[in-house]
Amino acid sequence: MEDKLILAIESSCDETAAAVVKNGRGVLSNVISSQIALHTLYGGVVPEIASRKHVEKIIPVIHEALKEAQVKKEELDAIAVTYGPGLVGALLVGVNAAKAMAFALDKPLIGVHHIEGHVAANFIEHPDLEPPFACLVVSGGHTHLIEVLDYGHFNIIGHTRDDAAGEAFDKVARAIGLGYPGGPKIDKKAKEGNPEAIPFPKAKVNDAPYDFSFSGLKSAVLNYLNHAKMAGETVNDADLAASFQKAVVDVLTEHSMAFVKERGYKKFAAAGGVASNSALRASLENACRKAGVDFYVPSPILCTDNAAMIGCAGYYEFLKGARAGLDLNAVPNLKLGER
Ligand code: KG4
Ligand code: ZN
Repeated sequence: MEDKLILAIESSCDETAAAVVKNGRGVLSNVISSQIALHTLYGGVVPEIASRKHVEKIIPVIHEALKEAQVKKEELDAIAVTYGPGLVGALLVGVNAAKAMAFALDKPLIGVHHIEGHVAANFIEHPDLEPPFACLVVSGGHTHLIEVLDYGHFNIIGHTRDDAAGEAFDKVARAIGLGYPGGPKIDKKAKEGNPEAIPFPKAKVNDAPYDFSFSGLKSAVLNYLNHAKMAGETVNDADLAASFQKAVVDVLTEHSMAFVKERGYKKFAAAGGVASNSALRASLENACRKAGVDFYVPSPILCTDNAAMIGCAGYYEFLKGARAGLDLNAVPNLKLGER
C-alpha cells in the first residue's frame, strides 16, 4: 500500500499541537505549544484564555509541523482533528483550522475522539501492539478501564463515579499549595516523601469492582490538612504527596490487575496524562511482570496531550473509511465509544 501522510491537530485543552504521521505509527513531526505557564498564574486552565491562545498559535504550529516533517501540504492524504471531548472554545479552534485546510486542499477530514488518541499513543512506540488488549485510561477528565477490541472500538469495563484521577492530583496539589498542573508537581514532591506516612483510604465502589471513586480520598486529604491546621501542626508536604499518590496508584493498579486476570488478557496498556506518573508506571509494570502480562505505556511526552496520537488514531479511522463533513462540530462532552 502507498504511504499515507496525515496532518493531525489537537487543541482540546491547554496545548496547541500539530503533527505529521506516516502510516499511523511513524511520527515525522510532533509540535506542542504548551500554555501551562499562562494558566499557572490562575491556578488552572482558564477556558477563554485557552481559546485565544489557540487562535494565536494554531497556524504557526501547523506550519512548524509540516516544516519539521519536510512534507508539503499538497502531499497530505488527510487532515485529522480532535473534535471532543474538551473545552468547546478550545476544540473549535482546531476543528475550524482542520476544516479550512481540508476544504482548501480538497483532502479528507477525519474527526478523532481525544481518548481514542490517548489509547493510540501506545501504537506509536510499540510497533508490535495490536488489539485486543486491556487498557487503563487516566487523564484530567477520564478514568476508564476498557477493552480495546479493535482500532477505535472499545468496551468500557469501569469508570470513575466522581473525580478523574488527574483531577484528584490537581485538586490535592492546589490544597497543599503546589499549584498547577498538579500531577507532575505531586509526582516530583512525592519522591522526597514516605508513601506509608499517612494511611489514606482506598475507595472501593460497592458491587462495582472496576469502578473508581476519588472524591473520598480528596476529602480525606483536605480533612487531614484542616485537622493539622486547627491543631497548629505543620504538615510534611512530601509525605502527604507520597501517601496520596500511593492511594491513587494502589487502587488503579489493583483494579487493573483484577480485570486483566479475570478476562485472561496477556496485554495491558496505560494511557493518558496520569500514565506519565512515575509511581503509577512502576507499579503497573511490576504488577504486570508478576502476572506474566506484557505492559505497554507511551513515553511521558506521548502520554500528555499531543497531536501525534491523534494522527495515529486518525489513520486507523481513515483506513476504516471514516470521513467527516465540513459540518463537523466540536462536541465538548463526547462519550467514549461514541462517534
Ligand atoms: O491527558 P492529559 O494531558 O489531558 C487530558 O486529556 O485531561 O492529562 C492531564 C492530566 C492533568 O490532571 C495532570 O495533572 C495529569 O494529567 N498529569 C499527571 C502527571 N502528568 C500529568 N498526573 C500525575 N503524575 C504526573 N506525572
Ligand atoms: Zn488528554
